[in-house]
Amino acid sequence: MKVLVTGGAGYIGSHTSYQLLKDGHEVTILDNMEKGHESALDIVKQAGEFDFLKSDLRDLVALREVLNGKSFDAVIHFAAYLEVGLSVKQPAIFFENNVVGSQNLFQVLLENGINNVIFSSSAAVYGTQTSNSMISESSPKSPDSPYGETKLLTERILESYCKYTDMNAVALRYFNPAGAAFGLGERHLPETHVIPRVLRAFLDQSFKFGVFGDDYPTPDGSCIRDFIHVEDLVSAHIAAVYNISRGFRAYNVGTGNGTSVFEVIKAAEDVVGKKLTYEISERREGDPAMLVADPKLFTNDSGWKAKHDIHDILESAWEYEQSRPESDYK
Ligand code: UFG
Repeated sequence: MKVLVTGGAGYIGSHTSYQLLKDGHEVTILDNMEKGHESALDIVKQAGEFDFLKSDLRDLVALREVLNGKSFDAVIHFAAYLEVGLSVKQPAIFFENNVVGSQNLFQVLLENGINNVIFSSSAAVYGTQTSNSMISESSPKSPDSPYGETKLLTERILESYCKYTDMNAVALRYFNPAGAAFGLGERHLPETHVIPRVLRAFLDQSFKFGVFGDDYPTPDGSCIRDFIHVEDLVSAHIAAVYNISRGFRAYNVGTGNGTSVFEVIKAAEDVVGKKLTYEISERREGDPAMLVADPKLFTNDSGWKAKHDIHDILESAWEYEQSRPESDYK
């Protein structure tokens, strides 16, 4: 298949591109390289040759220039800003990049008769829930952050295109992606995510890990998340490419198991084989207390199922974290 991957130099995009190439698909990566890494592209190249388009989704004219006349069997759209905390402080850049950028992409795809889209959505569309049960696709959607709003708005745009045009789309609402594979890994600058930050604290004595709030309404007081191994996310995208059908569908992609921040620390201590000294910090704005997926719908419709647990995630992330350049944390 011919697949366009936006954000292919980023975390999940690079892992997915690698696997697609390994499976023999023809891959084109589109990335503006604002957050993407050349080093990730170098690793993806080891899986096979791909076309690379350097372009920014916010620039409709430039996007037309690089995509006009091209054809793809499917587009996997990852490119977006992703830091929940930053989105609370700077909502406008999130709406511009994530919503306007996605709309530009969809418009150019339609102009070129490219109809199949897999969209990288997020559990952030749900926000704080009134009940502590697992979240299903029909659970209420009330994002706690502009980041979550951008994902929900983009889903709505896609849904509308699917209703009124020939577009077909699958939105995958990931819970908490983590872990590493293929020599690639999670490398956000600055790094805001809990697992790389916990692991960093084992490597760098000057960096103290802070638990953002221990007074949430959860059994141990810290937030609970459903961590999903990046390899499972890769297989979810590939399952979505093969299962795309007429119209719009949104699916949860998670394991169905919740892990609290304190439990992440404990699991990391087991993997690293050392105790961690950490501190309790203020809550971070925009963080829901608990986000755990009910992943049944996607399993029923595509046969996909997560294979990895929090231990596998931490083992692979620990291996990757030890190879990250010091400069990532300056
Ligand atoms: N946390 C800490 N200390 C840290 C970093 C994070 O305690 O140094 C806590 C956060 O407060 C949160 C949990 O760890 O409770 C997870 O935080 P992450 O930043 O790792 O992940 P988020 O849950 O904020 O974000 C993830 C994805 C988003 C997605 C979101 C849904 O990265 O793409 O889940 O809320 F939208």
